[in-house]
Amino acid sequence: MARRRSVLVTGASAGIGHALVLRLDKMGFRVFGTVRRPPDAEALERATGGNVRPVLMDITVPETVAAAKLEVAACVETDGLHALVNNAGAIYGGPAEFQDLDVVRQQLEINLIGHIAVTQAFLPLLRMGRGRIINVGSGHRFAPAPFVAAYCASKSGLGAFSDALRMELMQWGISVVMVDPGATDTPMWDKSLPRTEAHFQQLPAEAQALYHDAFYRTGRFFERLRRHGTSPERAARVIARAVAARRPRRLYLSGTDTLVGYLGYTFLPRSLYHRLLARLAGVGQATGVGPGAGPTGRTR
Ligand SMILES: NC(=O)c1ccc[n+]([C@@H]2O[C@H](COP(=O)([O-])OP(=O)(O)OC[C@H]3O[C@@H](n4cnc5c(N)ncnc54)[C@H](OP(=O)(O)O)[C@@H]3O)[C@@H](O)[C@H]2O)c1
Repeated sequence: MARRRSVLVTGASAGIGHALVLRLDKMGFRVFGTVRRPPDAEALERATGGNVRPVLMDITVPETVAAAKLEVAACVETDGLHALVNNAGAIYGGPAEFQDLDVVRQQLEINLIGHIAVTQAFLPLLRMGRGRIINVGSGHRFAPAPFVAAYCASKSGLGAFSDALRMELMQWGISVVMVDPGATDTPMWDKSLPRTEAHFQQLPAEAQALYHDAFYRTGRFFERLRRHGTSPERAARVIARAVAARRPRRLYLSGTDTLVGYLGYTFLPRSLYHRLLARLAGVGQATGVGPGAGPTGRTR
């Protein structure tokens, strides 16, 4: 009997990653799902009747990446890995002009450097299994939004990294795939929206005065996006397609918003497209709040 092909998914405690490991397990793959805390490991085992193997790993902590690699290598032996899904992620928002650089570094550390570190660690196993790397980007690669500039940078950086890596790995038949989900209703929003607002409220009064109106209008735009977001299962279905495909494509999109963004990015003049996006987010028009202006006094 053929042995089950092995897949490692990062960020399996919640959201898209959690839905994905459940789906891949049902599809017959041998699944490893990374989590950061022992209680999440126990919950993942319970949710899958022990079928999905939790692996403790924080993608920004090299020691945990190295330990995870040893653990998975011991299980898969010479079969190697069929797929690595770099899914873990977070959003740290705020006005780019004032975002604390340590927060910007943290954003890039999780959504870009962490994935590079995990990819480096697991490439020997992927080479053994003639596997594939699936990087989870975002519709923001095509449709940037205000107040998530560092997030957009991390996802566009991941896309550029994937394009170059794809060329380097062609010689071993290892595919590199980007999957870009649109707005998806996951716990990510519960974490990022309050965190972003708290960050904004801690800014100096002049900074808040400059961005207050635009920031809160964009906040309402994000809340609308979330309400219309698709289910994590839908995004997981698209990623699972990339895992299972005999010859995976370079790019998969999940969600109508991402498709529309992709079409706008590809076919519209870029400056017109960005003006449209800005207006959609609520920052397209001059507000009269500028340098030297005081707070508007308007609240949400
Ligand atoms: N939700 C959306 O609308 C949306 C749209 C486009 C793209 N995406 C992308 O889809 C991916 C999954 O997002 P999601 O919406 O499912 O978010 P989520 O529900 O917040 O889940 C994120 C997962 O990543 C893990 N994670 C965060 N930081 C980590 C770190 N340093 N090391 C290891 N794991 C870490 C989280 O673990 P903890 O539970 O320990 O925090 C969690 O398991 C992300 O890359 C995100 O950017 C999401």
